Amino acid sequence: MINHNFSIDEDITQATTLPGALYSSPSFFEKTKDAIFTKCWHFVTDTDEVRVDGTIFPFVMSQGFLNEPLMITRTDEGLKCISNVCTHRGNILVATKQQNCKGITCCYHGKRFDLDGCFKSMPGFEEAKNFPTEADNLPQISLKEFGKLLFTSIKPAFSFEKSFGRILNRLDFLPHQNLKHYPELSRDYLVKANWMLYCENYLEGFHIPFVHPGLNATIDFGNYEYEIDKYFNLQIGIVKDGEETFEIPEKHQDFGKKVGAYYYWIFPNIMLNFYPWGLSINIVNPLEKELTKVKFLTYVWDESKFDKGAGSGLDKVEREDEEIVERVQLGVKSRLYKKGRYSPTMEKGTHHFHRLIADFLTE
Ligand code: FES
Ligand SMILES: [Fe+2]
Repeated sequence: MINHNFSIDEDITQATTLPGALYSSPSFFEKTKDAIFTKCWHFVTDTDEVRVDGTIFPFVMSQGFLNEPLMITRTDEGLKCISNVCTHRGNILVATKQQNCKGITCCYHGKRFDLDGCFKSMPGFEEAKNFPTEADNLPQISLKEFGKLLFTSIKPAFSFEKSFGRILNRLDFLPHQNLKHYPELSRDYLVKANWMLYCENYLEGFHIPFVHPGLNATIDFGNYEYEIDKYFNLQIGIVKDGEETFEIPEKHQDFGKKVGAYYYWIFPNIMLNFYPWGLSINIVNPLEKELTKVKFLTYVWDESKFDKGAGSGLDKVEREDEEIVERVQLGVKSRLYKKGRYSPTMEKGTHHFHRLIADFLTE
């Protein structure tokens, strides 16, 4: 049994990385469910999906891992996120998206609820004592908007405003309300590696010259920047002359820089990659300790710039990342590998991620 009480030195110049054994430990994998994933934010969908009054949008939070059945409903008061599990004997209430609904009726024994989850009626309970109570309502959880994107959390360990809110502030010059989901350009990738390996690879640009020759031709590697916040971090892809860049307003802190990509990562598994054409959302979903599903969701605001510059050939870049991450999964299991060290200049993001993992697991 592996010791889960590890820590990562705050000082990157002397810190060592996560123990290799963690990436294939069943007990550690299981522990991250409650210690991390129930406490963080999860992407659901965008507001276009839930525009019509009386919409019920059922979904499963972290499918294949947490498997939490939930739904978003649109009531007169706006959007709510409530449990999709009947408070009688646990039936799943709604299977597919519906519109113009007035309420929710359970198909098992007929318990009824408002669209905000409040109990309305139940047949056969005339003689039940102390009924109904608060416990008969469907539990509601936090639902937040980031432009058009919707995020939820069961018991958030950190504030949405101080994480996603700050990102939106920094990028307030972008047309977030014009984003449109392109399902035909979105896809899932299965990676035979632990989810943490996928994230920590994403969090450093150090490997770009070695692993991504195509991307390396557009990125000005010498000027690549890292910024670390408390629960998220940012990598700024400065691009070479002639590549597609953002039009940054004069008063903005990044004015004058040739920014081709803002790579935001929010702990533990959300990546928001902003390009001049729009946004590529990556969600890193653990399935098994050595199997991960990475969802790539493509949202476009300017089709004319699509697939140019640092935001082009994303499928190829993804395959290059997959291949290296799967090799590392084999390596970290070696009896002869214990743990490694960080580049103090180029692995700040990976160090940040490992520190958060240690904090959440040992809290
Ligand atoms: S489980 Fe829903 S009414 Fe019985
Ligand atoms: Fe990469």
